[in-house]
Amino acid sequence: CNADEGDSGTFADRLLMEGDPYTLIEGMAIAGLAVGATQGLVYVRSEYPHAIATLREAIARAEAAGWLGRDVAGSGRAFHMEVRKGAGSYVCGEETAMLESIEGRRGIVRAKPPLPAIAGLWGRPTVINNVITLATVPLILARGAAFYQGFGMGRSRGTLPFQLAGNIARGGLVEKAFGLSLRELVEDFGGGTATGRAIKAVQVGGPLGSYVAPADWDAPLDYEAYAAKGNVVGHGGIVVHDDTADMAQLARYAMEFCAIESCGKCTPCRIGSTRGVEVIDRIVRAGSNPAAHAGQVALLESLCDTMQHGSMCAMGGMTPYPVRSALNHYPQDFGIESTTAAAAA
Ligand SMILES: Cc1cc2nc3c(=O)[nH]c(=O)nc-3n(C[C@H](O)[C@H](O)[C@H](O)COP(=O)(O)O)c2cc1C
Ligand code: SF4
Repeated sequence: CNADEGDSGTFADRLLMEGDPYTLIEGMAIAGLAVGATQGLVYVRSEYPHAIATLREAIARAEAAGWLGRDVAGSGRAFHMEVRKGAGSYVCGEETAMLESIEGRRGIVRAKPPLPAIAGLWGRPTVINNVITLATVPLILARGAAFYQGFGMGRSRGTLPFQLAGNIARGGLVEKAFGLSLRELVEDFGGGTATGRAIKAVQVGGPLGSYVAPADWDAPLDYEAYAAKGNVVGHGGIVVHDDTADMAQLARYAMEFCAIESCGKCTPCRIGSTRGVEVIDRIVRAGSNPAAHAGQVALLESLCDTMQHGSMCAMGGMTPYPVRSALNHYPQDFGIESTTAAAAA
């Protein structure tokens, strides 16, 4: 179970592990019995000491009660569980880097194929899913697929615990069916910004997610509609910024984050992220000189293309999402009137 929850502004996994650990244990036991696995591991980030302690206690109690162990609920089938603690690396949330970490090595992404389902932990077939995915299984089995299908829209069925964070008056978790809008979440549930100023930008889907264009804040939140606009729903993390935010600096931060967290295995991510910081600095330094911008904006676009299509995993592959969306929706923060004008110059 992937409980690394490294995305900025996300805490749904933590709340579930701390508040309802037996749902996760039940979901993992069901998954284990379904695929014939006898060993379940939960990889929890070290920043979650309460979740780790709660989960360990709950596993011990479930074992004592016969819900885990050599004979799960008298079925004659075994399923054991244990908790493994991460060590503060964002990329260890990527499932193959996580396998390396559990095996005691540096968290570096593995080449695929083979997929972990074929050759995963210690070379054995391994199913890896997120906390929320696994914890949803007991409800679906108890109430039936049609019940779960009844929530949501399009192909995005069920619910998602959206997490409101950043500059927001009422931060927290809102579990809703897919289909509501970003504006409903940040304004109706979140109450707008904590500073009381206008909302300028909203990043959805963690540090690799886009800044959703203000024109799309009323669009329904579902995987397909978001993907069609180049956005991501991801783990449902929503980070709000008010009108004092400098989007060029936030784009720079995305590149810097990638440079810090890159596992270093592939060049577009390892080197591209550092070059990305430099080129954004040059764009900002060019001030309002359109001729100086044009070449640098084209270079940034080309670099983003290389990272997006040439990286081995979503770390380098999706860092262009926040960068490009910041540039396209807030060009004035980069000192340019519009990205199309910069390209034409
Ligand atoms: C750089 C990077 C970091 C990731 N971090 C997490 C994470 O913290 N938690 C998580 O569940 N998935 C994370 N993922 C996604 C996992 O690789 C994988 O898709 C996920 O565990 C699958 O679970 P699901 O299909 O149940 O959502 C990350 C992916 C990448 C590329
Ligand atoms: S994209 Fe970045 S994090 Fe992913 S494998 Fe390449 S270097 Fe590692």
